[in-house]
Amino acid sequence: MARARLKVVEAKNNDTPPAPEPPEAYFIDSRQEHFVLYQGDSLGVMPQLQDASFDFIFADPPYFLSNGGMTCKSGKRVSVDKGAWDRSSGIQSNHAFNRDWLGHCQRLLKPNGSLMISGTHHTIYSIGFALQELGFKILNDITWFKPNAPPNLSCRYFTHSTETILWAARGDKSRHTFNYPEMKEENGGKQMRSMWTFTAPRKEEKIHGKHPTQKPLALLDRIIRAATNEGDRVLDPFNGSGTTGIAAAMNGRRYVGIELSEEYLDLSINRYLDVVPEVGAQDEPNRKTRHG
Ligand SMILES: C[S@@+](CC[C@H](N)C(=O)[O-])C[C@H]1O[C@@H](n2cnc3c(N)ncnc32)[C@H](O)[C@@H]1O
Repeated sequence: MARARLKVVEAKNNDTPPAPEPPEAYFIDSRQEHFVLYQGDSLGVMPQLQDASFDFIFADPPYFLSNGGMTCKSGKRVSVDKGAWDRSSGIQSNHAFNRDWLGHCQRLLKPNGSLMISGTHHTIYSIGFALQELGFKILNDITWFKPNAPPNLSCRYFTHSTETILWAARGDKSRHTFNYPEMKEENGGKQMRSMWTFTAPRKEEKIHGKHPTQKPLALLDRIIRAATNEGDRVLDPFNGSGTTGIAAAMNGRRYVGIELSEEYLDLSINRYLDVVPEVGAQDEPNRKTRHG
């Protein structure tokens, strides 16, 4: 099947630099640019996207955990191996990578844009430091508590049961979006705190296939509703199974995802076609199969 192509976005006025030649998309929805996926390395794709063209970015980058350690899965002791993308090349190189992709995010965000990044202690300090080095304004460190976290088999540590989500505005002067009243209402009329409880993704969220680090849809749904408005443009440079895109589509936001793996892109397309059935039938021809 022929690959879909993005249209070159024309510069709106003389102050706006002309858009760079966009990369070839792996998938574009029939409404054009409501749900766009690129296959490739984010560090290669992001430089080809237009400056200041996103309202919000969510990133769930590699945690660099797949280095021969052990974990507990379905009650069994198994080695941590999420894929080559999750291997560490050392802390200096991990930090250089974090600075690199965050630098691209800063260029791609609109002046009032913001971003959220998830991580555990393996990466979150590097990410926090990189945000400070680059001049982002850190707004919150949200703790995601997982009540059904797997037990710690070694019994030498407390059971790991949280992840951190850093929320940062593009810069000191940014007037970021925060849908305060909606969050307050969701919390029974009281200000929502920075401690959120969500269980791991349910079985129904994995009917189209499995991703080793899929985030719960309810978590991304809250993130999107809290920090974006309808029609906003959202980027996820580490798309995975497309959870950010699904939450964006469910809430009327436009989405761009970048992912190395075709398998995970196909999984994302199937999830997307499921949540937007009214346009799904027309979107089907835009799919690029591995044999196409
Ligand atoms: C932690 S997972 C994201 C999971 C996602 N939040 C979800 O809910 O499914 C990170 C994903 O980023 C991809 N990835 C890793 N390094 C990448 C890179 N440099 N460019 C693009 N994608 C990358 C991996 O293949 C993996 O699917």
